[in-house]
Amino acid sequence: MIPKAPVLRETRVHVITLDNPPVNALSFAYCARLFAEIEAAHADDTVEAVVITGANGLFSAGADVNDFQHEPPDHPITIRDVVGAIESSIKVHVAAVDGNCLGGGLELALACDYRVATPDAKFGLPEIMLGLLPGAGGTQRLPRLIGARPALEFMLKGSSIPAKRALELGIVDEIATGSVVEHAIALTKGPKRRVSAREAIIAKDVPTQAAAYVVAQAHKMVPPEESGGLAAHKLIDAVQASVELPFPFGLAREARLFEELVRSEPSQALRHLFFAERELAKVPSFDSAQDDTGKAQHDTGKAQHDAGRIEKVGVVGAGTMGSGIAIAFAQAGIPVVVVDTNEEAVDKARQTVMGMFMYRVQQGKLTQEEAWKRAQSIEFTDDWSRLADADLIIEAVFENLEVKRDVFRKLDAIAKPGAILATNTSTLDVDKIAEATQRPAAVVGLHFFVPANIIPLLEIVRGAKTSPQTLATAFKLAKQLRKKGVLSANAFGFIGNRMIFDYLGEAVALAEEGVPPARIDAVMKRFGFPMGPFAMADLSGLDIGWQIQQGSGATALGRTNVLQRLVEMKRLGQKTMAGYFKYDKAVGKGREPIPDPEVERIFAEEAKKAGIAPREVSDDEIRDRLLRALVERGKHLLEEGVALRPGDIDIAYVYGYGFPPHHGGPMWYADHSGMPVILGEATEARGDEVVAHA
Ligand code: 3HC
Repeated sequence: MIPKAPVLRETRVHVITLDNPPVNALSFAYCARLFAEIEAAHADDTVEAVVITGANGLFSAGADVNDFQHEPPDHPITIRDVVGAIESSIKVHVAAVDGNCLGGGLELALACDYRVATPDAKFGLPEIMLGLLPGAGGTQRLPRLIGARPALEFMLKGSSIPAKRALELGIVDEIATGSVVEHAIALTKGPKRRVSAREAIIAKDVPTQAAAYVVAQAHKMVPPEESGGLAAHKLIDAVQASVELPFPFGLAREARLFEELVRSEPSQALRHLFFAERELAKVPSFDSAQDDTGKAQHDTGKAQHDAGRIEKVGVVGAGTMGSGIAIAFAQAGIPVVVVDTNEEAVDKARQTVMGMFMYRVQQGKLTQEEAWKRAQSIEFTDDWSRLADADLIIEAVFENLEVKRDVFRKLDAIAKPGAILATNTSTLDVDKIAEATQRPAAVVGLHFFVPANIIPLLEIVRGAKTSPQTLATAFKLAKQLRKKGVLSANAFGFIGNRMIFDYLGEAVALAEEGVPPARIDAVMKRFGFPMGPFAMADLSGLDIGWQIQQGSGATALGRTNVLQRLVEMKRLGQKTMAGYFKYDKAVGKGREPIPDPEVERIFAEEAKKAGIAPREVSDDEIRDRLLRALVERGKHLLEEGVALRPGDIDIAYVYGYGFPPHHGGPMWYADHSGMPVILGEATEARGDEVVAHA
């Protein structure tokens, strides 16, 4: 319920507080109540002006995304109605913004005559991230307020900006130093000032004539519609309408484009990811609670309450992974001690750390001073005792069970009671590592992806004895690091890599049937992956693939000896300038895959030996077989309980493996594309099973 708003008789200002926990989402139901309150304030002769503010630490997160998931009720009251009521009133309205003011929340504020914010307020129109465009007048009002070009840039990016930047852009009028509501009340004394009455401008101080042309040019800057750019193109069309059409017509165009997007497949996929991401930390049976039907209950409330604080972190190993992990923590403001006895590795890691922070300075993301401070928060040492006061210690040493067990034995003796010990293994058995300690409940797998400071996926691997509190802390940590923490059971390759083995295996199988690797990669890039399977294999190193293939539980990559032959030829991928492709320093700084007829010859030769006949394969078959390999393994992982939900797998693939977000992740895609997935067919043919580390 909206609390009874205080009517401040002395100033005759009616204060409305948006209060719909947790994020003051403007659902149809809530808008109906809000609309009624606004209309009542308009009808009340004793009320001269209205101030709108928010409870729960924010203004509003915008429209309720749940409302877009099903057919709307007949004639729902929406943000558009609320905004219309504000603008058609002769009374002055002021938005008093604290915390997040996003999407439809910002559109509501834009309909007010004035906007005042606290210094901590944040503004954003993130609709594009959901495959939508601002649909409550934002595309028409913002260009009129700050100029079409900056408005377009702001909406295309979708990220939030702080109050100070919003002031510079002209989105807010003033920043409040004291009470934001009092400040807003003072502003109600100003004249009525409708944004919609202004003429759209291209940018402040730039003549308007060229606006439509400049905006139309933006189509060339965004991805094509079929490659995830649908919402961007519609957004540009809407902004173009703002500079070409009178306000009401522009508004109608925006509404039509918005409705088209709500129904579009890319937006449905992105909304699925939005909700899947928010499910991640809801882990059933954190404390083995079960409901009446015997189903495990999602009891995250308690687990989050129990989550420990991580204020200091230790990392063992200063290699690529260790230094990437250290940077990730330093970026999140958590001090790190990195232990390594190899001086050469430490020198290299120091350079990587400095180089990384300097790069952020060049990008304008950090000041020199901030970069220096963050780099200084990483301490390199060869003294293990420096780990004694860390709340969490992550091992990032060589991928060998005995080496890791030794490290854990040592850590168990040094780490303070209550400290969490994490392994960054990608294939080894977390329980066997935990057994080396006296505290298996405090042992967890934290599987980062290279480069650890950039890739936003973190697999959280639950061992047989990992305690709910350790897991809860791991999820909290993922959030602090701005990573998507995906829970996996302790099984070979966990979720992401286990699936990628089958995907790469299928790519090799296609090449054995005579399809050139470059064509296979091109098909998957067209689908939306940033790189194809063979370029990906070259990037991670064919020796690593070969090593993993030798390990327990991995599927053989293909039916021939091609991989082994390439490894024997020292064609290990990008690092040796040759793998499935060749590389040339003069072409794309040595990172651009160049098709190599030699590799195609090896495939043909080995296929002949294995009795595999070359055949005609269509692009659709290439795409479907590769995706099916992912999906079938994904289904197995769900059946085996390695992955919790299809959405978890989708998040892992989108954020860890470059699966195109507008296709929603492999599991969502399989459900929505009509792709036939016959569970078990391909995997049974290969005769392999999910191998649980038990
Ligand atoms: N609609 C429905 N539910 C929402 C929501 C929204 N816009 N925003 C957040 N929620 C829900 C989450 O699903 C979550 O629910 P749960 O507790 O049941 O899992 C809860 O609110 C808390 O959200 P977070 O876990 O994300 O909380 P944080 O504190 O980490 O983040 C936030 C808060 C920054 C507001 C973040 O939730 C966010 O970015 N939300 C989305 C904002 C957005 O995209 N707005 C645009 C909506 S579309 C629109 O406005 C259309 C308009 O133009 C017509």
